[in-house]
Amino acid sequence: MIIAIDGPAASGKGTLSRKLAEHFALPHLDTGLTFRAVAHALLTAAKPLDDEDLAEAAAQALDLAALDRSVLSAHAIGEAASKVAVMPRVRQALLEAQRAFANRPGGAILDGRDIGTVVCPDADVKLFVTASAEIRARRRTDEILARGQAADYAQILEDVKKRDERDQTRAVAPLIPAEDAHLLDTTKLDIEGAFQQAVRIVEETQEK
Ligand code: DC
Repeated sequence: MIIAIDGPAASGKGTLSRKLAEHFALPHLDTGLTFRAVAHALLTAAKPLDDEDLAEAAAQALDLAALDRSVLSAHAIGEAASKVAVMPRVRQALLEAQRAFANRPGGAILDGRDIGTVVCPDADVKLFVTASAEIRARRRTDEILARGQAADYAQILEDVKKRDERDQTRAVAPLIPAEDAHLLDTTKLDIEGAFQQAVRIVEETQEK
């Protein structure tokens, strides 16, 4: 079984994907981390973010087993990732690694922006997780404050909107729901509520 989960930044799709992976005992790939790892490799080597040859080479050298969420989750790396994510050759190199992960025997859960539309168009279940920009910015702010760091809601809201705009309007693999995706709006749901709805959608698909 392949489960494809897409949605904008801070929609809750990451937490939801991890919970579903545990529940259904499936391996999980957060494809955002693959773009973040490319950006991180360039940043740590003090290389520019707008050179497609360098970014493609970093994408080809990526080791999926070495992705470290604790390093890659930094806000600045997310911003840099959305810049390398517009490059077609970076997307192509990562697409191959992402598809190989998806096609493991036994199945997998992948989450990102274009899983249901591009990476796994034949996925058994597709979810598109959304929430209003305001609630996503509020959740991000609370997460950062909970880590004891400073966070400015207005600034984060502006970043969330800018990131949505960049992800939705890029020419290659923009963020849009697949035609056959189930929409899951988490604006008024907590993670447990979203998880229960998602489990129900997956189970209903399995019964068909
Ligand atoms: O979900 P995230 O914040 O970790 O993603 C980081 C960036 O990578 C985001 O701006 C969009 C991009 N991305 C993408 O283009 N396609 C994916 N499948 C996953 C992420």
